[in-house]
Amino acid sequence: MNGSEPERHRLAALLAGKGVLTSPWLREAVEAVPRERFLHPGVFLDEGRTWRPVTALGTAAEEWLKIAYSVDTLTTQLDGHLTADQVDEPVAGVPTSSSTDPTTVVSMIEALDLTAEHRVLEIGTGTGYSTALLCHCLGEDNVTTVEVDAQVAARADAALEAAGFSTWTVTGDGLLGHPYRAPYDRVIATCAVRRIPYAWIRQTKPGGVVLGTVGSWPWGTGLAKVTVGGDGTAEGAVIGRSSFMQARAQAAIPLAGDLSARTAYADSERSALLSPLVLEEWMPAFLAQLAAPGAQFVRATDGDGSPLRYLFDPERESFAQFVAADGDRWTVRQGGPVALWDDVERSLVAWQDAGAPEIDSVRLRVTPASHLYWIDQAPSPRWEHRIN
Ligand SMILES: C[S@@+](CC[C@H](N)C(=O)[O-])C[C@H]1O[C@@H](n2cnc3c(N)ncnc32)[C@H](O)[C@@H]1O
Repeated sequence: MNGSEPERHRLAALLAGKGVLTSPWLREAVEAVPRERFLHPGVFLDEGRTWRPVTALGTAAEEWLKIAYSVDTLTTQLDGHLTADQVDEPVAGVPTSSSTDPTTVVSMIEALDLTAEHRVLEIGTGTGYSTALLCHCLGEDNVTTVEVDAQVAARADAALEAAGFSTWTVTGDGLLGHPYRAPYDRVIATCAVRRIPYAWIRQTKPGGVVLGTVGSWPWGTGLAKVTVGGDGTAEGAVIGRSSFMQARAQAAIPLAGDLSARTAYADSERSALLSPLVLEEWMPAFLAQLAAPGAQFVRATDGDGSPLRYLFDPERESFAQFVAADGDRWTVRQGGPVALWDDVERSLVAWQDAGAPEIDSVRLRVTPASHLYWIDQAPSPRWEHRIN
């Protein structure tokens, strides 16, 4: 473990300097846990359109440590199966497992407000690095971690064992939590979820905290932190922007086929009050997901090169198509049972009227049957997502 000691101390000092790492016991963990041990057999480095495989064995020790202690997310699996030792050349693919950047990992652990005796459930083991930090702080018996991918889980388990942590590594669907070791004081998810599964609330002690990223777009997602009450509901706030790969079963299925077929039958057409381009900004995108959960935002160009934007909700067979008109004006055509843009636009206008507050103004309440979101100190709007 000693080989990377200077890098670990440098990482801890860097995170402390940024104001992210404040707890002495977590600093000790960052200084003790060798991140490089959790990256075997290797990582894929982002080269824009492709990913360059870099393996521990095929890289000079100094270079490998430099990569391991970069304050970056390091992708360890593509497309649900590919690891860096299986290819020699850069490849295309979608990241499906990674070691999240240490800034995010540490700031999320800090946000848990841990005390020494807490029992924690982690969803999304990934490499096991964040699990190891938790084990170092709380002891291996107080940490349970669930990973959906059997190979990823096996690699993490081996790395955790090698680092001296015989913790509870479970292969399974973390959306179910892990009832057999409940109740927990804290639940932390390092994959994004469309909504916080009620199973997590049920498996948390009253007064305990659930922390996870909500949303389903690659941007416009928020870190929800809720405290569980004695009545089985939970309430809290979105404490900041957060971006994670989606829980596997909830990953958006790319819309196949002809977009013009999806938009063939419009029920209405009007001028949009706001440009759909606002949805490329974080908070409007977050609000769009509250107003139209299930909708996907799609960018395209028309045959003549003019920009097109869409919202599609495949489940509810509804769409909004935006066609650029003069200047920055857009025409919106809507079809299907849900007028998606009417709902999104109403929310965006109300948010602007409330002074366009940032994402940490959003509060939420989770019950077995619903999620209710609202903006703090604004009388409206409220977004209720009912399960039934
Ligand atoms: C960003 S990585 C986790 C990073 C990890 N905590 C670390 O620090 O190395 C997200 C992980 O969540 C896993 N995952 C996705 N959906 C899941 C689910 N439904 N249950 C459990 N794990 C899931 C993925 O396989 C992936 O390994």
